Amino acid sequence: MNDVFSSLATGDSETTQQIASVLHSRSQDPDQNRMLQRFLAAVDVTAGPLLEIGCGSGGLLTALCDRAPTATLVGVDHSVDLLRMAAQSNATAGNLRLLAADAHRLPFTAESFPTVLMYTLLSHTPDIGSVLKEAHRVCRQGGQIVVLDGDYASADFSLGPHDPLSACVAAWRAQYVVNTHNLRSLPRLLEAAGFQLVQAGSHNYTAADSAYAYSIIDRGVDTMLDSGTIGKDLARSLKDEARRRAHDEGFVGSITYRFALARRHPSANTTPPQG
Ligand SMILES: C[S@@+](CC[C@H](N)C(=O)[O-])C[C@H]1O[C@@H](n2cnc3c(N)ncnc32)[C@H](O)[C@@H]1O
Repeated sequence: MNDVFSSLATGDSETTQQIASVLHSRSQDPDQNRMLQRFLAAVDVTAGPLLEIGCGSGGLLTALCDRAPTATLVGVDHSVDLLRMAAQSNATAGNLRLLAADAHRLPFTAESFPTVLMYTLLSHTPDIGSVLKEAHRVCRQGGQIVVLDGDYASADFSLGPHDPLSACVAAWRAQYVVNTHNLRSLPRLLEAAGFQLVQAGSHNYTAADSAYAYSIIDRGVDTMLDSGTIGKDLARSLKDEARRRAHDEGFVGSITYRFALARRHPSANTTPPQG
């Protein structure tokens, strides 16, 4: 199965630019922003240094800088090009370190961080368990891990049965999300990695008239166009239909996002369960 995000370490510059533009449009989407602010309200940003794994072009890092201007922030991503953009957009942040690394093998000694964050990383890493075990290794005893991610199987952009936009969403998911259902079990995944769950919740994102909402349909349509499944006229009509619905119906679709906050046990005996 494909996942454009999981192969960005070796992505060409056109793909990286496209992803940077999607991430930028997401950061401008009002309901995505509401969700992010709710997520950040649960995080103790005073417990630094804060590590974000999968920081991309730095959208969450910027929001963290706003909330905790004096905290030390560390961002890791496997795309050097996205990290360069993160550096540019956070150029004035004094306590920011950015590193290129794979989430499965972080270049930090054990227990380096009191706070570890992941914002839409795990839906794109084929082996969620090993990424969470690595996060557990670098998290300090008693430290927190906070995760926000899409339950992308829940993405529904239909107004009824046999809606052609459902085919666009399915094509988008197949190309951009490797873990379509797993985030539903986020609390259990965190516990399996050795964390103790403190809080879990969800947010129903309403995709309305926003560039990010359209990018979901457009990327699905382009995938079908590129594979020869549909032609240019239908591609244009499907993209127009998404915009028509946003204006006439007030929304295009919805996606459930999952949130969880967990802690690493404060005592030394914290080996994660095997298997
Ligand atoms: C959906 S983006 C999230 C970006 C970011 N959290 C934000 O605030 O906008 C997912 C990010 O995870 C990164 N990523 C995916 N797999 C990775 C891996 N194995 N190691 C490090 N980064 C990874 C991608 O390069 C991408 O930047």
